[in-house]
Amino acid sequence: MEQRKLPKHIAIIMDGNGRWATLQGLPRVLGHRAGVETVRRIVEASSEIGIRALTLYAFSSENWDRPSNEIGDLMHLLDEFIELELPTMRKNSIRLRAIGRLHLLPETTLVRLQRAIQETAQHDGLTLTLALSYGGRQEIVDACRRVAAEVKAGAVEPQQIDESTLAAHLYAPDLPDPDLLIRTSGEQRISNFLLWQISYTELYLTQKLWPDFSKQDLLDAVEEYERRERRFGRRATAESLANGNG
Ligand code: IPE
Ligand code: IPE
Ligand code: MG
Repeated sequence: MEQRKLPKHIAIIMDGNGRWATLQGLPRVLGHRAGVETVRRIVEASSEIGIRALTLYAFSSENWDRPSNEIGDLMHLLDEFIELELPTMRKNSIRLRAIGRLHLLPETTLVRLQRAIQETAQHDGLTLTLALSYGGRQEIVDACRRVAAEVKAGAVEPQQIDESTLAAHLYAPDLPDPDLLIRTSGEQRISNFLLWQISYTELYLTQKLWPDFSKQDLLDAVEEYERRERRFGRRATAESLANGNG
């Protein structure tokens, strides 16, 4: 059997909850609630097919500019998600992590989140990373601040700074860069997600609204990824040219 080249790390911009609700004449919060069900489905499916890391954009730095009742609903759903998902994380040995300016989250949510992160820290299955209060530019700024502090302390010389230095100061430096980035809801933009990490990530954009995104949709995205040739700036291989690529 041909060796599958499954993506090791999938990142998803989960978009379209609000439009999904509006289309059905429902309040936006019910779109977010349906979105949480999709998260649970996709986490389970990812772990089942052997994906090693899944990073979900759940709340951006810019989402703080939404009305406070929507922010409240989202934080409440996050609390609920953590409680509901913990048994699945135990069953499937899923390790929970979070990236972002987490100190901006409400205290109770942060405590619950940190508890779940601690409890699952030794799990060796899928690494599920939630991007919360997350912005790609903010992450790079935070990394620069930490590097600058090391320079100031005399631990690093400016000319020693290279890509690996900056990468080592990101929120989750040990996670590999995503192989595949999926965005739902038809928007064709990055919206400040993982700017540093996606320099060579394959993009997969789908019209499906996040609450409608199914396990089959995930499998379709993975299969499409497996058909692509990643070149990283190099020339196409003879084999791929023969297959009509390049
Ligand atoms: C994505 O759904 C969830 C978050 C950004 C928190 P949206 O709430 O952005 O849904 P649309 O884009 O308005 O449909
Ligand atoms: C991106 O979606 C953020 C998340 C999915 C958490 P948005 O709905 O906030 O993005 P824009 O505003 O359409 O770019
Ligand atoms: Mg949106």
